[in-house]
Amino acid sequence: MSAPGAQRLVVLLSGRGSNYRALQAARDDGRLPCEIVGVISDQSGAAGLDRARLDGVEALCIARDRYPDRNAFEQALQLGIDLLVPHWIVLAGFMRVLSADLVRRYAGRMINIHPSLLPLHRGLHTHQRVLDAGEQEHGASVHFVTPELDGGPVISQVRMPVRSDDTAQGLADRLLPLEHRLLPATVALLSKVPVELRHETIFIDGNPLPAPLRLGPDLSDDGCLPGRRGTD
Ligand code: GRF
Repeated sequence: MSAPGAQRLVVLLSGRGSNYRALQAARDDGRLPCEIVGVISDQSGAAGLDRARLDGVEALCIARDRYPDRNAFEQALQLGIDLLVPHWIVLAGFMRVLSADLVRRYAGRMINIHPSLLPLHRGLHTHQRVLDAGEQEHGASVHFVTPELDGGPVISQVRMPVRSDDTAQGLADRLLPLEHRLLPATVALLSKVPVELRHETIFIDGNPLPAPLRLGPDLSDDGCLPGRRGTD
């Protein structure tokens, strides 16, 4: 059981849900002082939904193909989210672009994990694009969701070197365990410290964030900010 008053998370996903499982594991071992109150998927076959059911978490399938148009789908999605009364909405492998109206409704409360060092490589196929660009470094970012696809202010990142013999699949395989640390650490931070989005700037405990927090030196796995007085 979570402590009374624990922040309520809703996770949106479209597929296997390994990032959802990482959040649940962090909650179970005490790193994440939140309650995952629901998982919603736009895909009826999403493995992440089955996993949520096994965990005893409310699992809602709001399949896009059951609605005549995007507007009807998003109305259902909004209703599903609002019924769960979340503090935070976490997009973790949710493979659908949301309308600006829906995104604005949850401004400052909706985050996404993206497998690149944003602002590099918004959109799909990030691992291959890193190789094609000959980059030395790859990583993942957690950012606030804004109407611009993968364009919202970045809260945190994790970095890793690219090896000369890397393939896109190899990069994806090496990055995923780092994503599984970055997302719970970032959500833990959001649960512990006031993190606000004002216009396009992130404020942490009232101070503007000049650059994304790096997992490790700036952000610990349990969401603390090493070296910042009063926040860890
Ligand atoms: C992750 O790589 C995430 O960064 C991206 O989609 C993938 C989702 O994986 N947005 P999973 O469903 O959490 O396993």
